[in-house]
Amino acid sequence: MARYTVVSMPGDGIGNQVLPEAIRVLDAVGFDAEYIHGDIGWDFWIKEGNALPERTIELLSKHKLGLFGAITSKPKKEADAELSPELRGKGYAYYSPIVTMRQRFNLDICMRPCVAFPGNPLNYVRRNPDGKIVEPAINTTVFRQNTEGMYCGIEWTNPPNQVRAALMAHPKFVPFAAVPGEDMAISVRIITRNAAARIARAAFQHARRNGFKGVTICEKPNVVRETSGMMEEVAKQVQKSEFPELALWSTNIDAQLMWLNKNPEDYNVIVASNLFGDILSDAFAGLVGGLGFAASGNIGDEVAVFEPAHGSAPKYAELDPPIVNPIAMILSAAMMLDHVGEADKAKRVRDAIAAVVREGKVRTYDMMRIAGGPRAISQGAATTMQMTDAILAKIKAGVRESVGVG
Ligand code: NAI
Ligand code: MG
Repeated sequence: MARYTVVSMPGDGIGNQVLPEAIRVLDAVGFDAEYIHGDIGWDFWIKEGNALPERTIELLSKHKLGLFGAITSKPKKEADAELSPELRGKGYAYYSPIVTMRQRFNLDICMRPCVAFPGNPLNYVRRNPDGKIVEPAINTTVFRQNTEGMYCGIEWTNPPNQVRAALMAHPKFVPFAAVPGEDMAISVRIITRNAAARIARAAFQHARRNGFKGVTICEKPNVVRETSGMMEEVAKQVQKSEFPELALWSTNIDAQLMWLNKNPEDYNVIVASNLFGDILSDAFAGLVGGLGFAASGNIGDEVAVFEPAHGSAPKYAELDPPIVNPIAMILSAAMMLDHVGEADKAKRVRDAIAAVVREGKVRTYDMMRIAGGPRAISQGAATTMQMTDAILAKIKAGVRESVGVG
């Protein structure tokens, strides 16, 4: 019997193209696992009215470890129109299977490493005052609170009267009292002390493990005083009581995004609430190669699921051979290796990717800055499989590179 069982959930579109590539790489480094398929995605919404069937939840409950490709999701009207005729009008509502998964298993720690591989033509470069172009060594991991904040889904257009009445308890609501319900939308941003402490702790643990000097909390406590205020206050407490040797810096989300273009290499570990963390991690990912390189882990106390940040890219899903970049998915698999304590295997995977990127001989279309599509290959772009093959060759050759964590 294999040492690990991984629930493999390719999902929709290019999820089906990249996930098998990650498994090829896991096999190559000798990860002793068997893979059990888990149904997830749009087809299951259409056929069953549920994009994350209960049987997949059960598989995850049992095996605790998941690899996920991507799903397709569509706005409410389209979702309702595509539901099988026999299911219509029976109260089925589309919920994002990823959000459901995060909530069902309390996968409250979202870890998103954004690490520049030297030689990647998509890396951020900067012109220094002397005119020299430099490529900063960006090595940032964003810890995003994954279950609360702006994404907890408590919102209304035309809020019920009890909600309006409750809001009247706040003097700042009074000017809105006369606005008709249908002209008003409300989202609730909830932060709990416990969840704030857990994400802060995860960030500090990561900093300690990897020898970083501290953590940056990125919020907006001067304006969003209560919720961002609690995030910052709790981070301070966690630092003081559990990580006294590490520093805690505080930045505001708006200023932080500006600083991205000035000195992104100064930020190694950033912690933020859900929406801000989502924005930050995409912003940082854009500096180190974008969607083809952005990996993530959704980690709870029991279950952990690893997935690329990209979606199902439907416009490329039918291309044969596939052309999308498998690296984001493969890096997600490497995060899974780290998570289960197979750090050396994870490093071998990342070193192999680093070697392929540095060499620059095999590049998918995104790395060439050309349009994706059927013509990409005739323009010299590698296919999805060719990229994986190049990585496998480096693993076989036992290459070692020096790249940051993530
Ligand atoms: P997307 O991430 O699927 O694709 C956007 C564009 O990025 C693609 O057209 C392609 O040009 C590029 N791209 C994405 N992955 C790439 C890769 N591995 N290699 C090279 N290029 C890549 O986002 P989009 O088009 O906004 O959404 C498509 C569908 O995916 C939607 O239904 C959306 O709801 C869903 N989605 C799902 C996510 C998930 O499963 N976690 C995340 C984001 C979107
Ligand atoms: Mg996002």
